[in-house]
This record gives sequence, structure tokens and C-alpha cells, in this order.
Amino acid sequence: MAKIILTGDRPTGRLHLGHYVGSLRRRVELQDSGAFDRIFIMIADAQALTDNADNPEKVRQNVIEVALDYLSAGLDPERSTLFVQSQVPELCELAFYYMNLVTVQRLQRNPTVKAEIQLRGFSESAAEGDTTQRAGIPVGFFTYPISQASDITAFKATTVPAGEDQEPMIEQTREIVHKFNAIYGPTLVEPEILLPDNAACMRLPGTDGKAKMSKSLGNCIYLSDTADEVKKKVMGMYTDPDHLRVEDPGKVEGNTVFTYLDAFCRPEHFEKYLPDYASLDELKAHYRRGGLGDVKVKRLLIAVLNETLDPIRARRKEFEARIGDVYRILEEGSARAREAAGATLDEVRRAMRINYFSDKELIETQAKAYAQKQ
Ligand code: TRP
Repeated sequence: MAKIILTGDRPTGRLHLGHYVGSLRRRVELQDSGAFDRIFIMIADAQALTDNADNPEKVRQNVIEVALDYLSAGLDPERSTLFVQSQVPELCELAFYYMNLVTVQRLQRNPTVKAEIQLRGFSESAAEGDTTQRAGIPVGFFTYPISQASDITAFKATTVPAGEDQEPMIEQTREIVHKFNAIYGPTLVEPEILLPDNAACMRLPGTDGKAKMSKSLGNCIYLSDTADEVKKKVMGMYTDPDHLRVEDPGKVEGNTVFTYLDAFCRPEHFEKYLPDYASLDELKAHYRRGGLGDVKVKRLLIAVLNETLDPIRARRKEFEARIGDVYRILEEGSARAREAAGATLDEVRRAMRINYFSDKELIETQAKAYAQKQ
């Protein structure tokens, strides 16, 4: 069976280091490995609109930002199809059919949807005119896991590189595939999620030590930040609040600077930037013992982050000078995505027996039956 990747991001802001270690870096590695037959990377603008119906301009402006982040991170449009969700209408038709295979109750149990209902302030009980809560849950938002199942199955994706918040979506997709194939015959492919392989990458905290990087919390380091911005943000980063003097023993667990080092640091970085230590483990041991100041560790992190981001910044600069070309890349990618999704949709229609006009047997049988009646 062909090995196919489908994944993507909502265009609601520029991508940050959490996106990078959570999925983007992995996508580029998988692309460069050549181990996959096809790779589809989707800018999920239609999904972004499910909870931004009142702010279409935000979504519209961020499509190019995410595209620039993709290209500068190293996704190559020759090897990976970059496309825009709303430009592939076949996805909507698939979702419409899948809706018959999922219950309201099952959607209500989706933990990511549940958390987002809280987070977005969608409330079932909000009074008219209450500006702190948004009255009711939009149907489109509530059903987006079904639309996500279309995104994945339309391309017969076997592999979805994503963060753990996407696990319930993949699980729901697998259920839909299972049900579809059981009713209509084997047609769709069950995908698997590919999670980051270390805990720091799974959930990179914000610079303030809070659980997640989030634009609204203002605790992000963006892929497009300058070297100076990165330096400032790292210098202001949350560490161990009890590590007051250099001599004091410090905690590494829950210390954001060390979590970032876990996500970004490689052994060769020590030789280059901090040759007194052979490895991150040695650095951690010294910090725990006491006698190692935060600033020294932060300087290492700044060097490591900027080494990672420099080539990304350089590529971004090039693509920023060719915005027209970037839109053309997305347009061509979307055309290719339509072709692939259209082929799956044909199979789905055939399996569901709603392919009336190409079903010679149906037409002939009915013609014969009616001829006999005459
Ligand atoms: N839900 C993803 C996000 O919030 C975006 C997305 C839409 C996606 N469709 C997808 C991710 C399919 C993986 C596979 O960023």
C-alpha cells in the first residue's frame, strides 16, 4: 500500500517553535527521507473559519503567513503538495456523507472538541446579550472532526504527523473509516498518527512556563522572530524560581530553558558553544548541584535556537520577495490535491451506489423491468 502523509495547520497566526518541534520539523525530515510516496500539507482555512466565522480577515491574512513558514522550514513544493483546504471542495462532499456515520453523542465525547468549547467560550446556556460568552456552539465547529476525517481520508493518508491534541481526531477518523468500509465495502484507508518522539517536543511550554505556546498568552517564539527577539524572549524566560543565586542547587524539571534544550539541543552543540560540557546531561547535573547560573544556560539556548532559525529566516526572506510565486505554489498544490481527492470521491460514490449516471447496470436493469411492464 502506498505510504501517504496528510497533515496541516489552521491559519490563525504565524507558526511558532511549538508547531516546529511538534510536527513541522518531522514533516521536513520525512519529506527528505524519501520514504513516502506522497505528502500533502494543508492550510486548514475552512477549519479555522469554524471558530472564526466573525473574523474571516484574520484567516485570510494568515494563509500566506503559514505558507511562508512551511516553505522557510524546508517543505519543498516539488516533493510535498502544499494546498489550501477551502480550494478543494471535494472535501466538503465527503464530510457530508461521513456525517451520517457519526452520532451527536460521539462528537460530544471528543476531548479536543470539549476543551475547545471551554476555551473559545462557546456556551449552551449563555444569555442573549452576554458578551463574555458566545451563545451556543456553531454546528460547523461541532462537526469539524468529521471534516478532518475527510481531509485525511480524501488522500488515503496512512500517516498523520501531528501533536497529541490531534489524537482524538485521528481516532474519530479511524472509526469513520471502519464504519464506511463495513457498510459500503473496503474503500477508505485507516490512518495512524505519528507523534513527536520526546516529551519536550510533544508539549513545548510557552516562554512563561505555561503549558502551551499560545498567541493570546503572548508566550511564543515565532519561526519568523529575529535573532534579537529570540535573545530577548529567552533572557526573560521562566526558569526555576527558587534558583536565586548561582551557588544554589536548581531544578531542571519544569524549567523552561531546559525543556527547550531537550527539544532543540544536539550533542555537537556543546563542542561548538559550551565545550566545558560533553552533553546536556552533564549540564543538567551541574545545574542540579548548584554553581551554574541561568544566564549561561540561556546563552546556550539562544545560540542553539538561532542556529536552528537562521536558515529558516534566510529562506523566509527569499520567499517574502516572491509572494506572487508563493500563491502560485498554493494554487498548483490545490489543483493537485483536487485531483487526488476527486479520485477518492469517485470511489466513495461508487461504493455508496450514488454513481447513477456511470452505473450502466442500474440503468439497464431498470429499463428492462419497465419494458416488461409495458
Ligand atoms: N486540526 C488541525 C489544527 O488545529 C488542522 C487540521 C485540519 C489537520 N485537518 C487536518 C491536521 C488533518 C492533521 C490532519 O491545527
